[in-house]
Amino acid sequence: GSEPGPSDRLTSPSKVLGAQTRLKQKIKALNITPLCCFQLRILRFFFFQFIFKVKTMGSLSLAWVGDGSGVLLVLTTFQVPLFMMRFGQSNLYRSEDYGKTFQDITHLINHTFIQTDFGIAISPDHSGKVMLTGDVSEIGGFRLFRSQDFGMTFVPTDLPFEPLIQMLYNPGDCNTVLTLSTTLDLWLSEDFGATWRKIHNSVCLVIWGPKHSIYFTTHSNGSCNDRGMLGLKKTTDYGRTFKTVATRVYSFVLGGRFLFASIMTGTRMIHVSVDGGEVWNMAQLPTVNHEQFYSILSASQDMIFMHVDDPGDSGVGTIYVSDDRGAVFSKSLERHLYTTTGPQDTDFTTITSLRGVYMTSVFTEDGAVETVITFDQGAKWQTLRRPQNSHCDTETSTNRPKRCRLHIHASYSTTMKMNVPMLPLSQPNAVGLILAHGSVGDADSALSPDVYVSDDGGYSWLLALRGPHHYAILDSGGLLVAVEHTNAPVNQIKFSTDEGQCWHTYNFTSDPMHFSGMDSEPGSRSMNVSLWGYRNDFSKWVVVTIDFRELFTRDCTEADYVQWLAHSADPSGASDGCVLGYKETFLRLRKSSVCWNGRDYAVTKKMSPCPCTLGDYHCDFGYYRPENSSECVEQEEMKGRPLEFCLNGTTEQLQTSGYRKIPGDQCEGGFQPDRKETDVRRMCTSDALHPNSLTENTSQNTAVVVMVVMAILLLSAVTGVWLVKKYVCGGRFLVHRYSVMREHVEANKIEGVDDVDTHYMETGKAQYNEDSDQDLLQ
Ligand SMILES: *[C@@H]1O[C@H](CO)[C@@H](O)[C@H](O)[C@H]1NC(C)=O
Ligand SMILES: *[C@@H]1O[C@H](CO)[C@@H](O)[C@H](O)[C@H]1NC(C)=O
Ligand SMILES: *[C@@H]1O[C@H](CO)[C@@H](O)[C@H](O)[C@H]1NC(C)=O
Ligand SMILES: *[C@@H]1O[C@H](CO)[C@@H](O)[C@H](O)[C@H]1NC(C)=O
Ligand SMILES: *[C@@H]1O[C@H](CO)[C@@H](O)[C@H](O)[C@H]1NC(C)=O
Repeated sequence: GSEPGPSDRLTSPSKVLGAQTRLKQKIKALNITPLCCFQLRILRFFFFQFIFKVKTMGSLSLAWVGDGSGVLLVLTTFQVPLFMMRFGQSNLYRSEDYGKTFQDITHLINHTFIQTDFGIAISPDHSGKVMLTGDVSEIGGFRLFRSQDFGMTFVPTDLPFEPLIQMLYNPGDCNTVLTLSTTLDLWLSEDFGATWRKIHNSVCLVIWGPKHSIYFTTHSNGSCNDRGMLGLKKTTDYGRTFKTVATRVYSFVLGGRFLFASIMTGTRMIHVSVDGGEVWNMAQLPTVNHEQFYSILSASQDMIFMHVDDPGDSGVGTIYVSDDRGAVFSKSLERHLYTTTGPQDTDFTTITSLRGVYMTSVFTEDGAVETVITFDQGAKWQTLRRPQNSHCDTETSTNRPKRCRLHIHASYSTTMKMNVPMLPLSQPNAVGLILAHGSVGDADSALSPDVYVSDDGGYSWLLALRGPHHYAILDSGGLLVAVEHTNAPVNQIKFSTDEGQCWHTYNFTSDPMHFSGMDSEPGSRSMNVSLWGYRNDFSKWVVVTIDFRELFTRDCTEADYVQWLAHSADPSGASDGCVLGYKETFLRLRKSSVCWNGRDYAVTKKMSPCPCTLGDYHCDFGYYRPENSSECVEQEEMKGRPLEFCLNGTTEQLQTSGYRKIPGDQCEGGFQPDRKETDVRRMCTSDALHPNSLTENTSQNTAVVVMVVMAILLLSAVTGVWLVKKYVCGGRFLVHRYSVMREHVEANKIEGVDDVDTHYMETGKAQYNEDSDQDLLQ
């Protein structure tokens, strides 16, 4: 049952002091952390607890519906994978108060088994559309449960096919939905799943494009494994007419405004189009052999980051950055870590809280993994500075004190099974803020990582919390919360109102629970955070939701904000803060202000242009910046070789002086490189896209592995499945999985959800089934 109501007072080490915050103490000695600076007076939080009367076994998926609606759907699914017959059961719960209370609505889907893999599909337009794909194979078939009112009511519809993937909403019109069947037919519905139309067969991969377009690959003969022989088709009228935009396709991807396809010609070539496949350009990238791969690390409207694997099983490659056509690439970072053994993994991270900032890891010559960061969209990379309040691990620092740096743990560390429960976290509305696990030493240390915080987009770092934690950003950065990652049951949540400098603890329950994960509404505007876990009997999911609104007695006023120049490194310099040709001055909340930004908080900034410098240019294709130099010089291996460059199917003259303005750079005046023309005479291979001119010797090329991996899914409703924790416990497997559906598109207001009756607790208990699912797995 629930225990709503005011909870205990904050358990701060010192007693509660006066109404005002005390001034921060300066850290003098290193090795002091966390820097605790003041006590908070207002210490009444409301917390709510709900117990799901279902077995912990199986998985739990949660999905936020709408934006600011507070509606949360939770699907618990138990499935027996060992039996030939599919057997499973699902329960569906709904909350409309940010996870404080839930109502069991399993009856609305007639207790149908929902597959968690592609079970819940939330429309990305925040209009409250929900689709659940139910498995009724015992009576033959699949059933869709559709809701257009934030999950209050569901309409069942039998599907005329067996779905293979999740329902894909047209981002431009969420009444139109696509999916693939297990027989590789492409099905489309224009009335939100009520009626379905088969629009194509033999489809391998399908993506919604801009302006209601659909892109997909098809196989003409054989199977989708016959890659390098696929056709890339496009339809702009919902499948009434089709156009083949490329043939001999291995794989394709949409990123920003770029359409990339890896095409099997004599060699393997990445082709790029900025007009949806009408005109293709060959991307100027090194060709790779059959063991190597390409990977798109990040794509924006301006440019992309492309990783090209080095030859051999080295686990490293080179990052190239593109021009605004996505066709001409220049070297940005060498020895970039991207492992291929096991799951493909890279630490590449886009820092969303500050423009132009990206972070990743390199594998140094002497075999160490080192974090590097760029503040200017890949023009220059540097190692991270050592946090002021930390010291080096003794062993490494005595040997090489100069190399005592901060190393951030991201995806690669997770793959290496290190004790890193979360990836680096940043949010566009929490300007400059980054939370990440890291360690200080001359390379990624195998020791237990700590939580570090940066408040200036990665220039400086502070050791914030000892040991691994789960963390979240609330109230647009005005509040940070963290829960220790440990195998022991927890009852404490930590929070900070000053961007991670000072942390307070709060015992949210007297009955500690095994903690699985933390969740709050996407967008980091909420003040409500939910902690998921289970108690000692392993039989029930428990969710504890804490409302931090009571922490702040007042809304923030103008006086609470100060001007902050982003990317400021040298306040005396005229070009201080210039990145990509302009400066940005933000209004940021004072660290000492304890107030509520509010849900409607919007980032305020002022922009001013800068004069151009060398730093506003990438090196052009065939040029690079030697270490410690800002000048671009010609690459040795390219010297004397004509540049292979063709645009729009014709050979063009490549004008270059080795410099190319960074896409999106808005500098004015200042340094302007001389233009000198390099005559480029080269056969144009874009003809390879047309079936008639295909060369015949393709059989040995089909084994080639060319992978195009999208690290960032723009405009997508789903950020993916997040495996929170895995236990082996009493010989049983407990897999807790959250499918966190994230939405990024601006919201519409919701109507008509406030008058719903909520009989959550009673129904929650009523649906409890004593049948022991766990026995089936013993
Ligand atoms: C619910 O399922 C039962 C058994 O599978 C079936 O008889 C009944 O008609 C279903 N009800 C609805 C409303 O679909
Ligand atoms: C398709 O494949 C079959 C056998 O796999 C072969 O007999 C046939 O000739 C192929 N057709 C074409 C058009 O390649
Ligand atoms: C809070 O919890 C911790 C252990 O998790 C315990 O040591 C401490 O005494 C608790 N404080 C209060 C006031 O209950
Ligand atoms: C927290 O949840 C309550 C509902 O329980 C809601 O009214 C409130 O707006 C939420 N706060 C924020 C900041 O989202
Ligand atoms: C670059 O500069 C660093 C420090 O200033 C120095 O240790 C290193 O040797 C330099 N590298 C080259 C290639 O000059």
